[in-house]
Amino acid sequence: MQDKLDELMELRAQASLGGGQDRIDSLHAKGRMTARERLELLLDAESFEEFDMFKTHRCRQFGMEGKEILGDGVVTGCGKVNGRVVYVFSHDFTVLGGSLSETFAEKICKVMDLAIKNGAPVIGFNDSGGARIQEGIESLAGYTDIFLRNVMSSGVIPQISVIFGPCAGGAVYSPALTDFTIMVKDQSYMFLTGPKVVRAVTREDVTEEDLGGASVHTTKSGVAHYAAASSADAISYTKKLLSYIPQNNEEKPPFIDTNDPTDRMDETLNRIIPDNHSKAYDIKEVICRTADDGDLFEVQPRFARNLVIGFARYGGYAVGVVANQPRFIAGVLDNDSSVKGARFVRFCDCFNIPVVTFVDVPGFLPGTIQEYHGVIKNGAKILYAYAEATIPKVTVITRKAYGGAYCVMSSKHLRGDINYAWPTAEIAVMGAQGAVEVLYAKEARNADDPKAFLSDKEQEYTKLVVNPLIAAKRGYIDDIIEPARTRFRIIKALELLKNKRDTNPPKKHGNIPL
Ligand code: HXC
Repeated sequence: MQDKLDELMELRAQASLGGGQDRIDSLHAKGRMTARERLELLLDAESFEEFDMFKTHRCRQFGMEGKEILGDGVVTGCGKVNGRVVYVFSHDFTVLGGSLSETFAEKICKVMDLAIKNGAPVIGFNDSGGARIQEGIESLAGYTDIFLRNVMSSGVIPQISVIFGPCAGGAVYSPALTDFTIMVKDQSYMFLTGPKVVRAVTREDVTEEDLGGASVHTTKSGVAHYAAASSADAISYTKKLLSYIPQNNEEKPPFIDTNDPTDRMDETLNRIIPDNHSKAYDIKEVICRTADDGDLFEVQPRFARNLVIGFARYGGYAVGVVANQPRFIAGVLDNDSSVKGARFVRFCDCFNIPVVTFVDVPGFLPGTIQEYHGVIKNGAKILYAYAEATIPKVTVITRKAYGGAYCVMSSKHLRGDINYAWPTAEIAVMGAQGAVEVLYAKEARNADDPKAFLSDKEQEYTKLVVNPLIAAKRGYIDDIIEPARTRFRIIKALELLKNKRDTNPPKKHGNIPL
């Protein structure tokens, strides 16, 4: 028996080394971690159960004959993060550059199947040279088997991808199908075709970093949700993200009791809206002043900054927060922010996470750039997302809620459950200045003092139309609240809605305007 146990120990030690100590050393020399070190950092101590440590490839060509590598370049299994079960896979770059073979894909599919069966999140650590070149269709089939499982798991269990190294070609579609993608700055990149092919096809000269680095995908494309400063930062972001999310679509998000008093007033909020309604303020200050312990966990913080999305807690309840940000292009909705908001609301809806929406939006951004990029269909996405969502929806209009942007931002008409407005709310088809210029253009031309005439009319319009009372009188706003008491009112609303049940008409699935 002892010799068999010794043999097993030896095999385990061999498998743990992946592509060997030299390759591990060279990874370390580049400031990168191994597949196992990353998992160690993610998972609770002693919680990791590894599967298929002894699995090997079946390729018998291009030098792969007799080249048996235990584990075949991916570490898979399950473990716990802060006591909650997660299924994991972690590409091992030391084995043939983490390239994906038939058996490599089988290992990943096994954990994905187990995760969906057991209702637990999947976290994938990506660091791979793509399809294993020595194989052919087997590797492509393997990728596609993973893609299928990504799609089947979507909306059933949370899926998170962390990109630690290369992720190129069709391989990018697995992370793209997951709920969140986290990249490590200066180490990871994602693109469909690399710089060489780009140069050959378009004659464009571009570096890997400029084509698909963390900065590009978290500021320009919106493909990724967070650019981590280091591997450790990426993993700690992942852990915090998990803390707001339930294990699956049949559970509620974790409730974390707080010492932050429910009825905490914040007088600063009574003064936060500038007297000049064209002046900006920071909506994140409003979120932080109202949320538990002033904590906002922002998602996609550097992409479409005119809309803030993220997670927070109110009275211990985890919520998704969506908020127009007046500090960036006056908080208008445009193509990018609409898609950003829509995808986030849909994520929250999949996983029973209530959404709290703060509204201060002057409208949709006009112009050819927006129209040519499809602001009609993209704006419709956020509208669609709010309308179909059956989770509790609490809305606070702090200032502007103009035109179509009023309609789409979790309004009562889209089944907003509890809609509050601050006394500073301006709810109308458009701002008073624009409105009177349209309504009184002729009269102004004939007036002795056109400026004074329009200013009088503007005041009249503001008083009669641009205030929250009209909406409140019709029941579109449930109450006009004192800003200082916003935290208390949101928590009360979430408590009232905690057992909300709502459904959509039976259908195979809707047809969101993609
Ligand atoms: C087999 C691979 C490999 C691959 C890397 N290796 N990629 N082996 N299949 N796809 C091996 C290398 O031969 C090398 O082995 C070791 O991994 C480390 O690679 P290096 O090149 O030394 O590392 P580095 O300089 O860091 O460069 C990493 C890299 C580069 C940028 C990923 O290796 C590379 O360009 N690889 C090819 C990428 C590629 O074209 N993949 C196919 C994409 S198409 P030795 O033994 O020499 O150390 C695709 C289709 C997917 O993926 C479709 C899905 C639907």
